[in-house]
Amino acid sequence: MQLIDGKAIASQIKKEIAEEVNTIKANGGKTPHLAAVLVGHDGGSETYVSNKVRTCEEVGFKSTLIRYESDVTEKEILACVERLNKDADVDGFIVQLPLPKHISEEKVIEAIDYRKDVDGFHPINVGRMSIGLPCFISATPAGIVELLKRYNIPTQGKNCVVLGRSNIVGKPIAGLMMQKGYPGDATVTVCHSRTPNIKEICLEADIIIAAMGVPEFLKGDMVKEGVTVIDVGTTRVPSAETKSGFKLKGDVAFDEVATKAGFITPVPGGVGPMTIISLMKNTLLAGKKEIYK
Ligand code: GUN
Repeated sequence: MQLIDGKAIASQIKKEIAEEVNTIKANGGKTPHLAAVLVGHDGGSETYVSNKVRTCEEVGFKSTLIRYESDVTEKEILACVERLNKDADVDGFIVQLPLPKHISEEKVIEAIDYRKDVDGFHPINVGRMSIGLPCFISATPAGIVELLKRYNIPTQGKNCVVLGRSNIVGKPIAGLMMQKGYPGDATVTVCHSRTPNIKEICLEADIIIAAMGVPEFLKGDMVKEGVTVIDVGTTRVPSAETKSGFKLKGDVAFDEVATKAGFITPVPGGVGPMTIISLMKNTLLAGKKEIYK
């Protein structure tokens, strides 16, 4: 079994991005600028956004954090999106999800200029991705694809099972894995909460991408020898062992599955660090106007 070390790959890519930013600055180019909008004080969102802002600093980007209390109106958020759309210094921005219930996430996402949508959540980016056109690919699927590439994991003609059908991970990664070329060309099956025979389907899989958000869902008796397992789960469970009082649990029963797997990602330290670095890559592309002129 080989561990897919997302943390190490992410730190390597971080260096690559930082070097490129240095070159851009040395040549008098514009410093890439990412803005993040954070509503309320959800613990997970606070952690993700502060990691994003810190990583911006580490790679030499400019970053702006815009905070609102959870009673902010939808109108105020839409006005903020409009300001960021128009701000020529901001290359890309994200609105951290989830938003409070009284604010429509769809409306907010659709209000973002797709050319600044470094999260890749806007329907234009989602649509362009699904037909293989240049676009911002959302961070988690992009990070998974990058891990497969950097570990040279074969995908052509392989059975790839995606567990979960979310708009953020399940649907886009299924689309990417079936796209022409590497790392695609796989035969993809998507399983979800209404799939009756998940175990039988998983037993046929060469690659399993687990993104259901159910801790330790994938057990050792559900996988075949040599399978590649990508664990996207990040459920917070209470823990007395950590300072924060919680621990991240993946969707894979790691110890059981690892004894049979050819390659496997740990949680934490697998897909998570790649997600943030993929957002940085998208911001760099936005700064260079490489996808949309
Ligand atoms: N909430 C959980 N993951 C993400 C993400 O990748 N982007 C945004 N904007 N919100 C999230």
